[in-house]
Amino acid sequence: MASALKRTETANPTRFYTRHGHKLTFFRLVTLSFCHLVKYNGFPIADAELIQRVYPALGPFQPDDIPHRLCYHFSSTLYPLSTDRSNALLRKNIVSLANFQPAERVRSFGATVFAEFTALAIQHNAVNLGQGFPDFPAPDFVIEAARTALASGYNQYARSAGHPRAVKAIAAVYSPLFGRELDPLNEIVITTGATEGIFATMQGLVNPGDEVVLIEPFYDSYPAAVLMAGGTPVYVPLRPTPGATSAAQWSLDMDELAGAITPRTRLLVINTPNNPAGKVFTLAELEQIAGLVQEHDLLVLSDEVYEWMTYDGTPHLRLATLPGMWERTITLGSAGKTFSVTGWKIGWAIAPRQLAHAVLMAHQWIPFAVTTPLQEAVGAAFEQVEARGYFAELAAMYSAKRDKLAVALADVGLTPVIPQGSYFILVDTAHLDAPTPTDDPRDVQICRWLTREIGVAAIPPSAFYSPQHKVLAADVARFCFCKTDAVLDAAAQRLRQNFG
Ligand SMILES: Cc1ncc(COP(=O)(O)O)c(C=O)c1O
Repeated sequence: MASALKRTETANPTRFYTRHGHKLTFFRLVTLSFCHLVKYNGFPIADAELIQRVYPALGPFQPDDIPHRLCYHFSSTLYPLSTDRSNALLRKNIVSLANFQPAERVRSFGATVFAEFTALAIQHNAVNLGQGFPDFPAPDFVIEAARTALASGYNQYARSAGHPRAVKAIAAVYSPLFGRELDPLNEIVITTGATEGIFATMQGLVNPGDEVVLIEPFYDSYPAAVLMAGGTPVYVPLRPTPGATSAAQWSLDMDELAGAITPRTRLLVINTPNNPAGKVFTLAELEQIAGLVQEHDLLVLSDEVYEWMTYDGTPHLRLATLPGMWERTITLGSAGKTFSVTGWKIGWAIAPRQLAHAVLMAHQWIPFAVTTPLQEAVGAAFEQVEARGYFAELAAMYSAKRDKLAVALADVGLTPVIPQGSYFILVDTAHLDAPTPTDDPRDVQICRWLTREIGVAAIPPSAFYSPQHKVLAADVARFCFCKTDAVLDAAAQRLRQNFG
């Protein structure tokens, strides 16, 4: 096997592979993975120079894992590429799009922060507390439900608005929580993850020129979804009290929120429990928001994907249940978070018939329908949650994981902002005297340093702020605790070793 590929060697792949005896294998693998991406994602693709440019972010690799790692990298990264130095062999096999420009609506989008930090974590063999996905198996009853669904013939297109068993089960679970009898066929739309719910909501409800108020820090798909609908994001940050040690001390200045609303404002997005701050909005806060929303005749997208993960008795409150708010609110949930199956990409939007219909009108032209067997499984899983006491168990599990990570962080002086909900913890990094030699935001440089030198990967929260407010994240890093206890313990050990 070839050892780490050196940058200079990649400039001449032929020489490299002749020397190492892997020439054909390598070219086939690379070509295949790139061609796959062209077909699958419509990305511009490349040549030897691309490999050279991309390689530093990929870290050392063996020829056998090239396709996987390049696919992973590229699936979250768009590069307009130059082919100046492409060599004949690669040129023959790889589409060259030297002057290619993506459509304007996506041109300003960079790579997500997760691409860089996942690659960096791999490169430095860091314990990865960056990207928030559970690394433990989904509950047995959920997996069993999927197995049964696949074996039972649920393998053709689903109803566009949602597979009947899934929407009925969701209606049954949520009706008592919403204090109304939800109509499963008209007030629920199953989406390809909550992410598609966000996108379809913007496509279905936002007109070009409309303004959409986003509360920072936000889930990073919000601005992109607003922009692709032709809307204009308007940002209002949560602000922590100085030295905050609890997410409850992060709050929204209601005057600032009121000041952000103009006659062009159409919709406000709220995320409770909040990623990454871990804040759970209180009744008083939701009432104030509801007051402003009704005064200015706005719609609300309430992203509640972490609804089952609140701690220390903090109640999760649904904005749609406040007086006058059902009529204005689209509420989103996610099977990825609820059942620890982020790869299933199943979400749901709950809304009054007219709003749900608007979301559906967009959704029917985005994926048309969501994977049938997994909807069947989600339906079967929801049917069992009450009898199993599943949600209490989930919250208890995450509460213990939160405490474990919070103690480990506090022990080494990384003061955590204890989350009330979600599976993320922000820490204060202001006192860290790590080198910050580049012009990148401080939190990005600190998180790179944590990953490289301390061996624990974190995500820089500036990714969840608009350009004008990124500075608010300068002294914070986000860790996630949706990981096995073994991984959390390994992270704790690295922290102790390297900060000790
Ligand atoms: C606040 C928030 N909303 C939505 C999502 C996306 O959910 P899904 O994986 O169901 O698309 C995430 C995922 O991290 C999130 O943090």
